[in-house]
Amino acid sequence: MSRSVLVTGGNRGIGLAIARAFADAGDKVAITYRSGEPPAGFLAVKCDITDAEQVERAYKEIEDTHGPVEVLVANAGVTKDQLLMRMSEEDFTSVLDTNLTGTFRVVKRANRGMLRAKKGRVVLISSVVGLLGSAGQANYAASKAALVGFARSLARELGSRNITFNVVAPGFVDTDMTKVLTDEQRANIVGQVPLGRYAQPEEVAATVRFLASDDASYITGAVIPVDGGLGMGH
Ligand SMILES: NC(=O)c1ccc[n+]([C@@H]2O[C@H](COP(=O)([O-])OP(=O)(O)OC[C@H]3O[C@@H](n4cnc5c(N)ncnc54)[C@H](OP(=O)(O)O)[C@@H]3O)[C@@H](O)[C@H]2O)c1
Repeated sequence: MSRSVLVTGGNRGIGLAIARAFADAGDKVAITYRSGEPPAGFLAVKCDITDAEQVERAYKEIEDTHGPVEVLVANAGVTKDQLLMRMSEEDFTSVLDTNLTGTFRVVKRANRGMLRAKKGRVVLISSVVGLLGSAGQANYAASKAALVGFARSLARELGSRNITFNVVAPGFVDTDMTKVLTDEQRANIVGQVPLGRYAQPEEVAATVRFLASDDASYITGAVIPVDGGLGMGH
């Protein structure tokens, strides 16, 4: 397989592991990054997904080099944790603008080529906290829960066009995003995870790659947890 794959936020963390998994399987992988030096081995396009013009420019560059995007992994995301009474409107809307509206921007643009090709795979990276909730993360949890309704609506809207939309909901994964947690917070989280540990980014990447593979051709609108059992029953 040598498909044109785009992973947003593929320059580090879970996104980088996903990008590597596709590249190792022989796909042509583009990643987005916002600043600094992107990792080698991919088509790195500078793109902030909160800016529609940058998204458009990124897609043009990818299409010119790799052809229309056939597999999109909307992975880029941010947290801005705060208790509700201290959460400013900007804390709330900026997280929603990246995690939800940013995902809308990249998915909508990818769909143009997928409709033409009459096939496509879209995987959205949500989070266990989207369904479980998390004190101090009302903005983040709301944005991640919204991705489920977004994906399932599109699964219904575009299933007849042979485009699948699935959601992966990781639990706690060892990346920069979780490095900010204190030892006490980490121990508390691990205590609630049946598998008793954090995930490695590669464990999330394996599920994403499966959802984009031929083996997953009849899966759409699914929410797949990769959370060590943390979210069981939700
Ligand atoms: N780590 C976890 O425990 C965990 C658990 C559940 C879900 N997730 C989700 O998994 C995804 C990846 O998380 P991670 O742990 O790998 O986080 P990370 O290490 O903090 O990386 C976040 C990635 O998102 C990119 N990004 C953020 N805002 C962006 C924007 N406006 N435009 C373009 N790119 C942007 C970052 O790019 P820059 O390098 O340019 O900043 C970076 O590549 C996120 O959606 C996160 O919510 C993570």
